[in-house]
Amino acid sequence: MSDRLHAPLRHPNRRGFLALGAGALLNGPLFASDEIVLGDIAARRRLLFGASIAEEALTNPAYGALYARQARIVTTDWALKFPILRPSAEIWNFGPADRLLAFARQNRLLFRGHTLIWNEGSPDWLKALSARETARVFDEHIERVAARYAGRVHSWDVVNEPFWHDHGAPGGFRRGPWFDALGPAYVERAFRRAAAVDRSATLVLNEAHAEHDDPVGRAIRKSLLRLVDTLLDAGVSLQAVGLQSHLRPGLPRNGAAFVDFLHRLAARKLDIYLTELDVDDGPFPDPIAERDAKVAQTYVDYLREVLAVPAIRMIVLWQLSDRYSWYRDPAIMRAMGRTRPPRPLPFDADLRPKAAVAALAAALEHHPI
Ligand code: G3I
Repeated sequence: MSDRLHAPLRHPNRRGFLALGAGALLNGPLFASDEIVLGDIAARRRLLFGASIAEEALTNPAYGALYARQARIVTTDWALKFPILRPSAEIWNFGPADRLLAFARQNRLLFRGHTLIWNEGSPDWLKALSARETARVFDEHIERVAARYAGRVHSWDVVNEPFWHDHGAPGGFRRGPWFDALGPAYVERAFRRAAAVDRSATLVLNEAHAEHDDPVGRAIRKSLLRLVDTLLDAGVSLQAVGLQSHLRPGLPRNGAAFVDFLHRLAARKLDIYLTELDVDDGPFPDPIAERDAKVAQTYVDYLREVLAVPAIRMIVLWQLSDRYSWYRDPAIMRAMGRTRPPRPLPFDADLRPKAAVAALAAALEHHPI
């Protein structure tokens, strides 16, 4: 048994956790949170904890060590997306994913594939194909990629973000090369192709925004349940739904409605993964201690709600450190009107633990076994 399980963990017990108000978090971590190993705490509650991973975990040894210590599962952030795997019709670029898989295996981390099919970010060469050619590329892509990693992938986000109602497509589906060539049936087709070549991976339908109670979130929850029923009624091998959980404190939330949605998914015998958890700190004040405390409290409030649902099996952050968050992308910062370096994650740009580490530890501790 790894020595990790015996590492001294000093963190609040239930009473201590409940006493954790914003005030307590304002004074920074209550304990030496570098002794907290989130993957171990989660494992004791029968939860898988991890983070998305990209090349920087290999080029920055300290960051790689943080994954090895804190995570038990990693999700490919970029390496298994269509644009990097298929920069042209002739090229298959498996290098980045193979390197991340090797890292995961060396560090005994489970490996999640993100994502076989997504209607966003497609390369121009794909967009230029006919519907018939697109269908051929669709099948070939899933079969070749899923077969290459068969037996070594814990789970696949087979289809990512199927819905975007603003596109005006029937059923609120997200438009893009796959949908435009195959219609809504592309989702079932993807799952059937993936199941045919990898019988060991858990197959996941992954969606964004369902966590929020704005019109977009409410519409996505309704559409997602309908699509899940369509897939299950057709006998498709769907075992889990991924809810990305990019928490946006500036958007409305309705905990009761969201937990009811989680129970509806669970009633369909599906596992639920929180697949891309992070907190947009944009709406919070400038002072770092106060901002970090509010981010930590946002994690706690969300996890307190959702971890009451036993079907939650996994919590994956979208990177571990602020330095590598997608919120740092200049294009994202411009689009969101942000100028401050974002602080959405539990570890800062220098890989130091923030208040959120202690908060996540306390929240994980209370998942019902
Ligand atoms: O690696 C190339 C680099 O070689 C090149 O010089 C550079 C400039 O073009 O681009 C680099 O690739 C970028 C890649 O991230 C790796 O950094 C892509 O341009 C950029 O588009 C890509 O953004 C990713 C985005 O998805 C689109 O794929 C983000 O890192 C990633 O965090 C983000 O993750 C998504 C999930 O997949 C789905 N849910 C939402 C989430 C956040 O947007």
